Formats: sequence, C-alpha cells, structure tokens
Amino acid sequence: VKLGVIIPAAGQGKRMGASVNKQFLPLQGRPLLAHTLSLFERSGAVAEIVIVSAKEDRERIAELVRTEGFQKVSAIVLGGEERQESVFAGVKALSSLIQRVAVHDGARPLLTCLELNRFFTEAEKFGAAIMAVPVKDTIKRVDAQGKVLETPPRETLRAVQTPQVFARSLLEEAHHKAREAGYLTTDDAALIEWLGHPVQTLMGSLENIKITTPEDLDLAEAILAKRMNQVNH
Ligand code: CTP
Ligand code: MG
Repeated sequence: VKLGVIIPAAGQGKRMGASVNKQFLPLQGRPLLAHTLSLFERSGAVAEIVIVSAKEDRERIAELVRTEGFQKVSAIVLGGEERQESVFAGVKALSSLIQRVAVHDGARPLLTCLELNRFFTEAEKFGAAIMAVPVKDTIKRVDAQGKVLETPPRETLRAVQTPQVFARSLLEEAHHKAREAGYLTTDDAALIEWLGHPVQTLMGSLENIKITTPEDLDLAEAILAKRMNQVNH
C-alpha cells in the first residue's frame, strides 16, 4: 500500500534566529524545504504529500512547489501553535484512500532516498514505527533547578527522528483522543504510546539531523559537500 506523507513545516524557527522561516534558508543554494520534499516526491512508496504551513508562509511554499515541479503535493494546509496540532491538521487533509501515513519534519532535509525506502519496507510489519539512533552522550533526567534525578542506562536510550509511520486509523484515533484529553507532546509516536499501542524503533541515520540552530546549517552543508565528493569519485 502506498503512503500519504505529512510534512509539518508550520513552525517559526525561533531557535534558528533567522529573519525568515528556517524552511526557506538555502542549502547548496536550494531552500531547505525543497530538499525535504524532493525526497518524498522521488520515493516510489509515496502516493501523496500534504504540507502544513504557517499562514504567512503558505504562498511562498505554494510557489516553491510550483517552481520545483512537485507532482505529489495534494494540499498545503494551515498549521497550529504546536507541532501536534499541525500534524493533526495534515492528517485531516489526506485523501480518503490513504491507509498508511508517514510524518516527516520539514526541517530534516538530509535523509537519503535509500534510507527512506529501507525504513518504509521495514516499517510495513508494524502499526507504528519510528526512526531512531542510539544516543552518544550520557543522558540525565533533571528537575527544574537542574539537579540530577537519575541516569538511565545509555543502552536503553534512543534519540528519535522522523520519519514516523503509522496505520492511518491508529494515528487519527491517537490525535483525536489526545486533543480531547488535552495531552500535548513532542512527537506523534508519543500519542500512540499514550494510547497503549506498541511503537517499534528502527535504525535511523546519524546524518538525518533536524536543522534547529545555526550550527546545524554548517553541518548540513558539510554533509552535502561530502556526498557530492563521493559521487564524483
Ligand atoms: N512545526 C509545525 N508546527 C508547529 C511547530 C513546528 O509544523 N506549530 C514543524 C516545524 O516547521 C519543523 C518541525 O515541526 O519542520 C520540527 O519542529 P522544530 O524543529 O521545533 O521547528 P520550529 O518549531 O520551527 O523551530 P523552533 O522550535 O526553534 O521555533
Ligand atoms: Mg519547535
């Protein structure tokens, strides 16, 4: 079955501190969001793409879709204050034929098509599957004053990325119930966990970073430059 993809791109990019939404910042001269969309446009597993946008960015995103010639974008819908609300708005815009949904941050432009398709294949066995990598640092849980509460064993911890893939009915149920209960969290998988359904982690990529602060842009340029070199040699 082919997937519907939701690209939340309705954030404000506050931590980037740029004058425009970070989704439009150039990577190798091309808007960050264009890199992300291009990946799903090229994947044979993808039937349709819904972009979630802030009101003030909507026209610019529509223009980007036109100039890049993306064919799979079926809707550009308005997002909410929180990422969770933005994804929910995206889910509602998927066409009725779609039975499986992938959610991927607009701000993660560095995933490769190979990694994406491998993930989609592995994810087929699960109602909910997410990309994740083992953490490199030791992670501590702290209180509001910064005092350490506990140190979970590092081998039990994963840094979670997108894409995250779900059975559509499960994702819809989770979003509906979370909204009713006023439960707000930072990724979609957490809503599924909250429902009590299993979520499977699958190996992600250390290069699949989320562009969040200015240093991430330098890192992203370096990763893309390295890939260009690999192709040319
Ligand atoms: N996002 C969204 N709607 C929101 C908040 C975030 O669609 N209300 C999207 C962002 O556009 C981004 C992804 O969710 O593609 C991950 O969020 P994050 O990296 O936090 O981006 P921003 O919220 O834009 O950045 P910041 O938190 O620094 O303001
Ligand atoms: Mg944010």
